[in-house]
Amino acid sequence: MGRQYSAGEYLPFGGGSRRCLGHALAQLEMKLVLATVLSKYQLVLAEDKPVKLQRRGFTLAPAGGVRMMITGKRL
Ligand code: HEM
Repeated sequence: MGRQYSAGEYLPFGGGSRRCLGHALAQLEMKLVLATVLSKYQLVLAEDKPVKLQRRGFTLAPAGGVRMMITGKRL
């Protein structure tokens, strides 16, 4: 597992006195989706080039997303 981030290092849901009210639900949903997809399918990156960052609000995100392809089903 990766290291734990403090509240001042990782801010996808905002920070300080204003914070996303749905962050716990959003994180649970993302874990369920990732666990379902990764346990059922084999994936590879669709493009072999470095990911560029872009600002999204006051956080950073991959410009144009990260395209992936399904190469097979897991047994
Ligand atoms: C990946 C999913 C999500 C991300 C990255 C995200 C991110 C954010 C961010 C950055 C803010 C602004 C915080 C600020 O004003 O500083 C926000 C606000 C808010 N979010 Fe989310 N959010 C997500 C999902 C959700 C979900 C699933 C819900 C509800 C079910 C939700 C409800 C809200 C509400 C009500 C606010 C306004 C809070 C306020 O104005 O005090 N969000 N969110």
